[in-house]
Amino acid sequence: MRRLYNSSAGNRHLDIGPGTGYFVDKCRFPTKTPELTLLDLNSECLDMSAGRLARYRPAICQANLMEPLPLPSRHFDSAAMNLVFHTIPGGWDTKGIILKHVAETLRPGGVLFGTTVLAEGVPMNRLTSKMVLEQHRRGNFQNQGDDPAGLERQLAKYFPEYRVTIRGAVAIFTATAG
Ligand SMILES: C[S@@+](CC[C@H](N)C(=O)[O-])C[C@H]1O[C@@H](n2cnc3c(N)ncnc32)[C@H](O)[C@@H]1O
Repeated sequence: MRRLYNSSAGNRHLDIGPGTGYFVDKCRFPTKTPELTLLDLNSECLDMSAGRLARYRPAICQANLMEPLPLPSRHFDSAAMNLVFHTIPGGWDTKGIILKHVAETLRPGGVLFGTTVLAEGVPMNRLTSKMVLEQHRRGNFQNQGDDPAGLERQLAKYFPEYRVTIRGAVAIFTATAG
């Protein structure tokens, strides 16, 4: 994930679901003064990541990805969305709309990159299956039915170019805005 950040993050960067801010903190941006925006539904994640990344004076956006985003359109060079999709319920046909909302914020040629844990159509050993089932039981993962084909179908709807790589049960995706 750190390699993905270093190779894909642009100077005007939107970080979606930044968690603790760890990956953004470690990222080597193209310049020392990136223009950073952090977006999350949860104010605690925003407070924690904004504190960690205070040196960049990040803009904060508390918003629901399932709705159009209150951000400028065709603005960002890059958007990262790591380990977010598998926490959102509804299957690809419902949560695919998030890709539309994110694509609208990217400038032409801007890049979305991210990762998500899949639950179907990927190799899983017994330990991984057990872990995924346990995360479903706890409600932490909402990725029942999430497969690589569904992710590709949704990326193809909103991005002219995309790539999905499967590593174990994790999909790593990059997509370029038109
Ligand atoms: C597992 S964390 C992401 C971790 C982080 N990206 C990292 O790599 O360390 C998932 C994040 O997505 C956010 N999230 C989940 N559903 C969301 C939604 N509908 N809109 C906005 N943020 C959402 C959660 O609040 C949470 O902060």
